Amino acid sequence: MVEIKRVGICGSGIMGSGIAEVAGKAGFEVVLRSRSEEGASAMLAGLDKSLAKQVEKGRLDDAERTAVRGRVRGVADLAELAECDLVLESIVEDLAPKLELIGELDKICGDDAILATNTSTLSVKALAAATGRPAQVCGIHFFNPAAAMPLVELVRAEKTSDDTLEAARRFAESCGKTVVDVRDQAGFVVNALLFPYLNNAVKLLEDGVASRDDIDAAMKGGCNFPMGPLELLDLVGLDTSLAIVEALHAGFDDPNYAPAPMLRRLVEEGKLGRKSGAGFYDYAKK
Ligand SMILES: NC(=O)c1ccc[n+]([C@@H]2O[C@H](COP(=O)([O-])OP(=O)(O)OC[C@H]3O[C@@H](n4cnc5c(N)ncnc54)[C@H](O)[C@@H]3O)[C@@H](O)[C@H]2O)c1
Repeated sequence: MVEIKRVGICGSGIMGSGIAEVAGKAGFEVVLRSRSEEGASAMLAGLDKSLAKQVEKGRLDDAERTAVRGRVRGVADLAELAECDLVLESIVEDLAPKLELIGELDKICGDDAILATNTSTLSVKALAAATGRPAQVCGIHFFNPAAAMPLVELVRAEKTSDDTLEAARRFAESCGKTVVDVRDQAGFVVNALLFPYLNNAVKLLEDGVASRDDIDAAMKGGCNFPMGPLELLDLVGLDTSLAIVEALHAGFDDPNYAPAPMLRRLVEEGKLGRKSGAGFYDYAKK
């Protein structure tokens, strides 16, 4: 079984950056790949800010901060991932670019390397089929924010080997996560249950059943949820949320899963939630 020491992460968005920090703190050497030098630098600046905040709050000491920072490298060239034992792709939730990327990684990475995906809903089998190593492909699905959420869904696709799954499990557990095993099916467990609910919350808002604030207050007060559904959609990202709902709709062939028109409209308007500064709520950029 491959021993994972160096981890490559593709995609420097919300999840890629978060997972890079988690893996760096767990002691892995991390190579985080963004498509541009600017993206890689911005990600490292974000990591510095996050680590500084943890030092300020007394959750990390200076020596630990220096050690974590020394383990994480930002790169723009995909070829820099050649020596990684595990590469986890965490780019936009869209099958075409993911297929292209995993095909390229298959050519670049060593024969023993595991290629994994952080997809929320897409078929791991389809991604595996774009490589010449389907036995070494699996899903390692972290949750947002990666540092705070304790769960990882480990996705076995049709041809994933036991060794691949065990190596991926060890990696996730070393990152301090609780692992659940799930089948390669749209939305796995969490999103298959969560997103119909979130999508229905948007439909209730659209139908005027209650205001935005009252829908969120209702689910916090009535179900003891830490966040309301509309706040949570903003945290996930409305583009990613729409992609997830569309994949569930296609995967389960259920008309009730059709994306709420308002969700699609907000995405078309560029309102993607917290990451763009506005979604169901406005987020003043500091
Ligand atoms: N946001 C969440 O709550 C969440 C939780 C778990 C898993 N995920 C999954 O993680 C992955 C990334 O989501 P995110 O929330 O970090 O998204 P994000 O929008 O924050 O980041 C997406 C990243 O993909 C890059 N990208 C966009 N188009 C690309 C292309 N054609 N080729 C290469 N890179 C491209 C962007 O530059 C960006 O770095 C998705 O598969 C998503 O489903 C998201």
